[in-house]
Parts: sequence; structure tokens; C-alpha cells
Amino acid sequence: MIGAAGFVGNYLMDEMCRSDMEVYATKLPHERLENPNAKILDLDILDKEAIVALLFEVRPDYIFHLAAQSSASLAWKNPGLTVDVNIKGSLNVMDALRATAH
Ligand SMILES: NC(=O)c1ccc[n+]([C@@H]2O[C@H](COP(=O)([O-])OP(=O)(O)OC[C@H]3O[C@@H](n4cnc5c(N)ncnc54)[C@H](O)[C@@H]3O)[C@@H](O)[C@H]2O)c1
Repeated sequence: MIGAAGFVGNYLMDEMCRSDMEVYATKLPHERLENPNAKILDLDILDKEAIVALLFEVRPDYIFHLAAQSSASLAWKNPGLTVDVNIKGSLNVMDALRATAH
């Protein structure tokens, strides 16, 4: 799960950890995220090589991509960052998946 420290990600991580699935949850380095039943990792989706390395390491069966710049007011103040995270970051996730698919 990418972006697990966010509003949606937190709930989904906790719910998935109640199942018998092995859960890997990513956050940005400055964020706090805790769940003893999840493996917590740092990941910035602006770093495509880091996504590729993580996918090779984890080899996930399913991915929930919930990382986003979700603030409408910040989008007005910093549209460039919003485009970078929401569009280029999402493209990085999909490109990394393509690069690691077999
Ligand atoms: N909250 C809702 O009700 C709702 C409803 C429908 C859809 N969504 C969508 O679900 C997604 C998550 O929403 P949310 O409410 O949890 O948002 P959120 O802002 O609470 O969480 C987003 C997470 O992404 C992280 N993030 C930001 N930039 C990042 C980067 N470069 N690399 C990695 N992580 C980064 C943030 O730090 C945060 O932890 C968004 O795409 C949102 O549009 C949310």
C-alpha cells in the first residue's frame, strides 16, 4: 500500500492487517505510521527508481496507490507540486510496475 500514512491509507492498512495478508505500507520519511502487523517502509513516488527497487524487493500481489497531494488549497498555491505528485508520481508507479512485471 502506497501512501498508507494518509487519511484513507491509515484505515485500509488497519483493516488489511486484520486479515491474514502480509501488508507492506509506505509513508514519506517525515510521517509517523505504526502497526505491528505491517511492514512500514519509506517511499517518495517522485523517485521512480526507489519504486522499482521496492517492487523488486516486495513482489506484491496487489497494490493500493493512495499517495496524493490531496489538498485543494495547496493545489491553488502550488499547482506544480500537485501535478508532480498526482500525475507524474502516479505515472512513476505505473511505469515502475511495467518495468518490474514478468
Ligand atoms: N479522503 C477521501 O474521502 C477520498 C475520497 C475519494 C478519493 N480519495 C482519494 O484517495 C487518495 C488518498 O486520499 P487521502 O484522503 O487519504 O489523502 P491524504 O492527503 O490524507 O493522504 C495522501 C498521502 O500521500 C502522501 N504523499 C504525498 N506526496 C507523496 C509522495 N511524493 N510520495 C509518497 N507519498 C506521498 C501524503 O504524505 C499522505 O500521507 C487520493 O488520491 C484522494 O483523491 C480520497
